[in-house]
Amino acid sequence: MQRQRPESTAATPRVFASDNVAGASPEVMQALVNAMDGPAFPYGADPYTRAVERQFSELFERDVAVFLVPTGTAANALGLASVTPPWGGVLCHTDSHINNDECGAPSFYSGGSKLVTVGGAQGKIDLAQAMQAVRTKPGDVHSTPVRAISITQASELGAIYSPQEISAIGRLCREHALRLHMDGARFSNALVSLGCSAAEITWKAGVDVLSFGATKNGVPCAEAIILFDPDPAEELAYRRKRAGHLVSKMRFLSAQMEAYLAGGLWLRNARHANRMAARLASGLVKVGVDVIGPAEANIVFCRMTGDAISRLQAAGVVFHANRWGEGVARFVTSFNTRDEDVDDVITLAS
Ligand SMILES: Cc1ncc(COP(=O)(O)O)c(C=O)c1O
Repeated sequence: MQRQRPESTAATPRVFASDNVAGASPEVMQALVNAMDGPAFPYGADPYTRAVERQFSELFERDVAVFLVPTGTAANALGLASVTPPWGGVLCHTDSHINNDECGAPSFYSGGSKLVTVGGAQGKIDLAQAMQAVRTKPGDVHSTPVRAISITQASELGAIYSPQEISAIGRLCREHALRLHMDGARFSNALVSLGCSAAEITWKAGVDVLSFGATKNGVPCAEAIILFDPDPAEELAYRRKRAGHLVSKMRFLSAQMEAYLAGGLWLRNARHANRMAARLASGLVKVGVDVIGPAEANIVFCRMTGDAISRLQAAGVVFHANRWGEGVARFVTSFNTRDEDVDDVITLAS
């Protein structure tokens, strides 16, 4: 496939605002081209979708129900709606994407459920706070009983839940008959950083529903809702259609996901993004910048002087600054971040 890529020059924008700014992997684009000819039954009744279902069952070492959707918000909101009644609460972190960046979609798609927020270091839910919230006003018909917990892996602040931390939240869910949802927009980055199996940090640790992200890591637009418990699958099928997210030419979502999972492309992409973040974090530390948090995945938070922020911006480096506090800057690396771009940021920050 012919493609043009900008040469690395001083004028090339070095964009660290989000991993959504990265394009797509050639393998995934090629898969889209390969899928364009010939007929295929619509709405998921096609061989590409069957192949993706097989890939996910293999990856998670058990049968799973797979629902492809075009956005992460749809994956989260529909996945949560399938396990939360309209009168229930979804416990989540204050800094979570579902709380801050989804325009109320989780409540909308569930027909009224409410997000109940708790704190915790580095965007990870504090277990003690979660326990307290879950036990508040049991049986009080006037309250909003928590019916699900949602955690983000990797967290919005670039931290990763260990298998033990997920299991502890999973146990809390089992004790109180709650469902556990994982927003895995950056699941791949978390997985390669932990070096464990996908099963270990999902259903084996008590996760019922996973939003499996791909768009941030080399795919144009495809995400998957994975149900480990098949019970809500029928309901979710209707919910996805009713929400307008049952894509008629599903083969094109599936072709993206199939190529993304095939041969470990998703893991290679995530390893590269994480390596770039680690390079950036250690380089910034070396030049005296205060890196905040663990930078365990592909997100680096740091504290910078106003001068350094202005210098970087004037040089064309695009990133978020002052949104999480005065002087706090966030850099997100991706599967196609270049070494030289990272090194430029380090040089400019020093
Ligand atoms: C933690 C998290 N969850 C989900 C999403 C998916 O959002 P979108 O609906 O924009 O694909 C994002 C994207 O920024 C995210 O950061």
